[in-house]
Amino acid sequence: PSRVLSLFTPSGRPTLGNLLGALLPSARLLPTADCVFGISDLHALTSEHDPARLRERSLELAGLAIAAGIDPARCVLFLQSNVPAHAELSYLLESTAHYGEMQRMIQFREKSERQSAVRLSLLTYPALMAADILLYQATDVPVGADQAQHVELTRDLAARFNRRYGPVFTLPRAVHPPMAARVMDLSDPGAKMSKSVDSPGTIFLLDPVDVVRRKIMRAVTDSGTSVAYDSEAKPGVSNLLAILSATTGTPVAELSPGSYGALKKETADAVIALLEPLQRHYATLSADPATLETVLRTGAERARERAASTVTAAKEAMGLLAA
Ligand code: TYM
Repeated sequence: PSRVLSLFTPSGRPTLGNLLGALLPSARLLPTADCVFGISDLHALTSEHDPARLRERSLELAGLAIAAGIDPARCVLFLQSNVPAHAELSYLLESTAHYGEMQRMIQFREKSERQSAVRLSLLTYPALMAADILLYQATDVPVGADQAQHVELTRDLAARFNRRYGPVFTLPRAVHPPMAARVMDLSDPGAKMSKSVDSPGTIFLLDPVDVVRRKIMRAVTDSGTSVAYDSEAKPGVSNLLAILSATTGTPVAELSPGSYGALKKETADAVIALLEPLQRHYATLSADPATLETVLRTGAERARERAASTVTAAKEAMGLLAA
């Protein structure tokens, strides 16, 4: 059976892009795969952050993941920082990776350009992400398109390690949802919808539904009037069609809103129908943080057990002596 792993970073407020690109596709794998999911709080330290806000956001994201269907009774769900093996294997992989290949990562180049004091952990981020994946011998990694390069690098590092030190790691592959691998900003369909950019075109999962409707009704469309999927010529309309398709599970070819106005209305209705029950479920979970904390503690225990044998094997293969 496939072994699935994905993590979500609590560095901003989660968006519709996170939901359609990763959370829902992850939840859909629960019945057929052995699944490990986590909140990558260590990754949230790679850019300027506020400790109090990080605590809140880690719990919020865990609650939202569960509300999106990532049921902790059917998978391992944990906070990355509660499992020391992640940082430990990350260091071993840093000693496998090259400075140049880290520097070439698109996300590093984009993020480091926007900052004056770039944290060193932003550069080494992909080694930690590779550790997340390789620790659990994951075969499939459900992620949005923006993470594809990091998963490719993970494969390269795993293959290099296995060649040099012996077969310790499983080579993983990224799996992307068919329509929502890259949900674009509603007000700027040339840019990815991002939790780190404050834009009127970003739908946050906890936005009140009237705000969601307003944001979708004000989405930028394209010149012309025909509703057709063509991401080059009609990026705005295509983004709405992709969201509508991913939200309703209907192939784009079977969607036929007659006008831009009808497309926006159908999309708003569909997104709200998806978010309303999610927000209700989240409200009950967040009303009882103690239970959520217990769930995460249990998840961390199970993750620590599973991660142990891979770190031990990697250390031994690299020539480190057992304690
Ligand atoms: P993060 O927290 O930025 O995003 C979480 C997931 O959401 C996807 N995503 C999107 N998908 C479609 N359209 C969008 N606009 C969009 N924005 C975000 C991301 O691709 C991701 O799947 N480094 C990762 C977290 C991570 C991880 C891992 C993932 C850490 N370790 C190991 C997989 C395996 C990140 O920061 O994702």
